[in-house]
Amino acid sequence: MKAKILVTGGAGYIGSHTTVELQKAGYDVVVLDNLSNSNADVIDGIERITGIRPAFEKIDMQDKEALRNLFEKHKGIKGVINFAASKAVGESVKKPLLYYRNNLVTMLNLLDLMPQYGVEALVFSSSCTVYGQPDILPVDESAPIKPALSPYGNTKQICEEIITDTIHAGAPFKSILLRYFNPIGAHPSAEIGELPLGTPQNLLPYITQTAIGVREELSVFGDDYDTPDGSCIRDYINVVDLAQAHVKAIERMLGNKSEEPVEIFNLGTGKGVSVLELIHTFEEATGVKLRYKIAGRREGDITQVWADPQKANTVLGWKAETSLADTLKSAWNWQLHLREKGIM
Ligand code: NAD
Ligand code: UFG
Repeated sequence: MKAKILVTGGAGYIGSHTTVELQKAGYDVVVLDNLSNSNADVIDGIERITGIRPAFEKIDMQDKEALRNLFEKHKGIKGVINFAASKAVGESVKKPLLYYRNNLVTMLNLLDLMPQYGVEALVFSSSCTVYGQPDILPVDESAPIKPALSPYGNTKQICEEIITDTIHAGAPFKSILLRYFNPIGAHPSAEIGELPLGTPQNLLPYITQTAIGVREELSVFGDDYDTPDGSCIRDYINVVDLAQAHVKAIERMLGNKSEEPVEIFNLGTGKGVSVLELIHTFEEATGVKLRYKIAGRREGDITQVWADPQKANTVLGWKAETSLADTLKSAWNWQLHLREKGIM
């Protein structure tokens, strides 16, 4: 068995897929989650895929003593992957204090306790949102950070800074900041996937819920952007591919291969796809026709962004492998699984 890794927010969408990939690579995983945006059944799904039930602690990471107790109980944690955060952009505009408190206090508690328990490595879930609308595309890690468009986006920038400042001040651990582009899809087993509470804000869950009839019609937010078909362009990255990058990041830090104490990697495919292209690829890949209409622009959306993933490819040794069609099929199979189970 390799090192013990704490996955905070491990019952969530990306955390659950990462737990699976860590277990497959031989790591001993402890999952922490307060289930504010997830369900304990996810742990069963993880076990069905890997045959291993991860240790699970229902803890709110804002509670520092509870987090300390976890480190006491699970001695010898070598690495932490910090997914726990609130992540709805629109909600963050309405409830900024909730977002600043949850996303920053959890991070501060972790950074305080990690050195006391000998943790050597921290992976942080950041976002391409830190680049805003980049001046040059594809965007690489040297691009300037733009003013955040929401409190949520601001928490990602601030957490990157807090981690960097803490390590520069001599904290005895390394960190890798992973800037995700747009994670989509589900595990090919359809045992775990994305389960948004209420009306989905993100494109792909809205597509699959419309395709299955939970939603009447998808609104395409704008077809008058300065792009080839007028709809916005993003870099959609398969969630299992994304999860595997976290395993690489942990291996890199615990294997003493980091070139700097804080390293940053873009996690994307390098290919921009428009909203309309995504809809048509979904229809082709699944054979399901989608009802959609063109609606007005959504406030705060940037026109286009896609990654230059060269650094992740060459330095981290990670590359997005799954095709967009297979990723969209996996999302559809997950939606069908939810229907079978009577969940949605
Ligand atoms: P998610 O909501 O599915 O997972 C986050 C998990 O953290 C949830 O299970 C939630 O219950 C838990 N959590 C939240 N606050 C907590 C707290 N105080 N204590 C304990 N657990 C807590 O979200 P996700 O899509 O899996 O995102 C994971 C991380 O990646 C987040 O930090 C998010 O900001 C970041 N990220 C996500 C995307 C995306 O598009 N999904 C893009 C860029 C970055
Ligand atoms: N869109 C629609 N209709 C919808 C939902 C979305 O047309 O019903 C469009 C959006 O306008 C955008 C594209 O689909 O052009 C993607 O939108 P998402 O909401 O799925 O994703 P975003 O790029 O807006 O943001 C997401 C996360 C952020 C994260 C960012 C980068 O929500 O938290 O990816 O990782 F920061």
